[in-house]
Amino acid sequence: MKQEQKHLEKLIKDLDMLRTRFTLLKQSEQKYRTMIEKQPEPICKWLPDTTITYVNNAYSKFLGKKKQELIGKKWKLFLSANSSSKKTIDLYKRLSLHPVTTTHENKVKRKDGSTRWLQWCNVPIKDSKGNIVEFLSVARDITNQKMVEEILRFSEEKFSKIFHIMPTPIAITNFENGIFIDVNKAFLKLFEYSRKELIGQSAKDIIWKSCKRRKYFIDKLKKKKRIHNMELSAQTKSGKPLKHLISSDKITIGGEKYIITAAIDITESKKREEEILRYQSQLKALTSSIAFAEEKERKRIAGEIHDNISHTLAVIKMKLGEIQASEYQCTHKKELSLLTKLIDEAISCSRTLTFELGPPILYELGFDAAVRWLTEKFRTKYGLKLEINSNIKSVPLNEDIKIVLFQSLRELLRNVVKHAHVKKVSVKIHISRKRILVRVKDRGKGFDISELSDKITKSAGFGLFNVRERIEYLGGSLKIQSVKDRGTCVTIIVPLH
Ligand SMILES: Nc1ncnc2c1ncn2[C@@H]1O[C@H](COP(=O)(O)OP(=O)(O)OP(=O)(O)O)[C@@H](O)[C@H]1O
Ligand SMILES: [Mg+2]
Repeated sequence: MKQEQKHLEKLIKDLDMLRTRFTLLKQSEQKYRTMIEKQPEPICKWLPDTTITYVNNAYSKFLGKKKQELIGKKWKLFLSANSSSKKTIDLYKRLSLHPVTTTHENKVKRKDGSTRWLQWCNVPIKDSKGNIVEFLSVARDITNQKMVEEILRFSEEKFSKIFHIMPTPIAITNFENGIFIDVNKAFLKLFEYSRKELIGQSAKDIIWKSCKRRKYFIDKLKKKKRIHNMELSAQTKSGKPLKHLISSDKITIGGEKYIITAAIDITESKKREEEILRYQSQLKALTSSIAFAEEKERKRIAGEIHDNISHTLAVIKMKLGEIQASEYQCTHKKELSLLTKLIDEAISCSRTLTFELGPPILYELGFDAAVRWLTEKFRTKYGLKLEINSNIKSVPLNEDIKIVLFQSLRELLRNVVKHAHVKKVSVKIHISRKRILVRVKDRGKGFDISELSDKITKSAGFGLFNVRERIEYLGGSLKIQSVKDRGTCVTIIVPLH
């Protein structure tokens, strides 16, 4: 009896203990359930066939559905159409085989139609025999992170595509050692290398033949943020010389500094530029030699007129004088005086022609006397009032300079008569030890200087062009200043070597 009493007491005690444990367990489950309910992250439990058995408030709020709409449904129903649901379902198989905590990502569709990316952390729940009976999953909204990744991937892809299809040669090299890490097709084509040959090599050996130049480039890049259009000479693999303009900037990839360089091949345009410069100097020389040949020819014709025609006319005049003084004059008196008048006119014409072709005065008495003769001519022929300011008296000038300056002055005065529509012009001629200056200034109609080259291309108005070419051939300069309705001032400066 005592024994039974004891046994009963133990049973009651055990039952009490069990009740306490059960209460504690219930309390603890309640505590965990409340904790899970209050979690801001979506949490759910699901059976191996993906049927949802439990969702917390955050989960139903996230999907915008009531708990009743979710529990009992298979979660693959809530995946977005373009989420890789197959991949997600495969995950469950993986989880079954290797029941450890695993993460996976999927795109879910909410009730309002919007989609979000979730990253799930899945924990298998096993029964006492070790069989997986359920999974507990906690989600994290990674939509923004996914978007950033997507933008980055897109911009990387975009950059890579642009980099490789660009017709401009581009290279990425290590900042410190110049090793090529990437180059585009245009770069390979320009330098005649294959990708295999170039990647891993240093630009120091391939591009920069001069260490000094690379040092200058690196120093400049260190000081400035970027380099714009620096001229560089290099060679292709076959040794063909190249000239190009490079523009570079620094970039950081994975914490390492690199240089991205784009090159513009200017080999051909440089060649053309040099050719144009050569043609230009040839043209200058040609213009000048034409000018000198013209002057020589003028001088020769003037000499012919003077020595033959004028001389013959003078002889005819003399003979006519003799006839007029003789006994025949009474019969043809009228005709003889008419002939004398005509001969006088012819002599005067031939003298004017001689002077206009190439005033012997320029060769015989020099530039100063020729200028005085020229200004006098403009005064009498066109009624132009010239204000001369000159210090040139009796300074001997080299023949070429003398001819070019005389021709130029004549052209400038002709222009005043033709275009300025004024009767007054001032001429300044100033000579120093080093140079001679000739300036013609009027207060006439003026003109738009920017239209000058246009006139030349329309094959008219070669006067000033010729003057400029000849003056520049002598190492001098021509400066034109003109304002519409205010006047024109042309200044010529020629160095005296
Ligand atoms: N003193 C000036 N006043 C106003 N316009 C001028 C003057 N000098 C030159 N020009 C303008 O400049 C243009 C070019 O002059 P330029 O001497 O080269 O050619 P042109 O006199 O027209 O022809 P060309 O000299 O070949 O007979 C003229 O057509 C004229 O419009
Ligand atoms: Mg002219």
